[in-house]
Amino acid sequence: MIVTTKQLFEQAYGEYALGAYNINNTEQVMGLFQGNVDSQAPFIIQISRGARAYSDKRMLEAMIRAADEIFAEAVFAVHLDHGDEETCYDCIESGFYSSVMIDASSFPFEENVAITKRVVDRAHASGVSVEAELGQLGGVEEDISVDEDQVHLTDPKQAAEFIERTGCDSLACAIGTSHGAFKFSGSQSLHFEIVKAIQYLIPGFPLVLHGSSSVPQEEVERINAAGGALKGARGVDPTQYLPAAKLGVCKINIDTDGRLVWTRVHREYFRDHPEVFDFRKPGKVYMDEYARFIASRNELLGSAGHLPEVHAALGA
Ligand code: G3H
Ligand code: 13P
Ligand code: ZN
Repeated sequence: MIVTTKQLFEQAYGEYALGAYNINNTEQVMGLFQGNVDSQAPFIIQISRGARAYSDKRMLEAMIRAADEIFAEAVFAVHLDHGDEETCYDCIESGFYSSVMIDASSFPFEENVAITKRVVDRAHASGVSVEAELGQLGGVEEDISVDEDQVHLTDPKQAAEFIERTGCDSLACAIGTSHGAFKFSGSQSLHFEIVKAIQYLIPGFPLVLHGSSSVPQEEVERINAAGGALKGARGVDPTQYLPAAKLGVCKINIDTDGRLVWTRVHREYFRDHPEVFDFRKPGKVYMDEYARFIASRNELLGSAGHLPEVHAALGA
């Protein structure tokens, strides 16, 4: 059942965080739903502009609608990840997305406020939730690459003003994470004091952490041992997910880790079975491994086991 992120956040706030997982193809969709149902967790499906262009936005919608039927128990939001204004409007008008992210974080503050407010007005008129972003993460997202020296951590007072003026439903804040498999190249750590300060200023307001993949070292080593070249890949300590959730972080974005599972499975499979050319064989292994990975993340996020109460609360 598709619900809004706002509905999910009302259930989760202060207790656990929802895993927000990106999808691009059938195998990812199957593994994702299986892992969430197995661990009895509500979740968020994220669709980036890159994903919408990879096959076709209608293909993604059809896959998710099919998965909703196959896994009838699942409760999830369908969310546009890192949208620009035009894509947000397309998603709002589609009637399919229950949530959009307007990412105007690279614009000056006043422009970010104005763009976000326009999107909020259109989205709320259609019952769609809006995530906005203030501050800038490092790493590469969509077509934008942000160098370490351009990273701006979120200012809590500015965040309070931003939320008040835009009416957004959740806020992605920059607290030291970055996108991709190479995080913390310097001596960074997570700035929980920013999250605490925002929670103090606006109690009960849902926050979002981007760039939260943990880049498991075992995956990196196995990928490299099977011919990969991911030297120095590093991620977020996943035992930090739950403490963040207790401070009002309701959504934690994990995409890179899923790509690492895919890469490890396929590199190892073709290394060990050079005679195979039936892609369904590693594809099936990947679906099972991805489902297990998702379930393990939901345990760390604290969302595992909450599906029955979410069903009850949302009348699902
Ligand atoms: O933040 C970006 C997400 O990991 C999506 O990546 O734009 O390559 O689909 P993508
Ligand atoms: P990772 O690159 O850490 O998986 O972050 C994903 C993300 O923030 C998607 O919006
Ligand atoms: Zn992101």
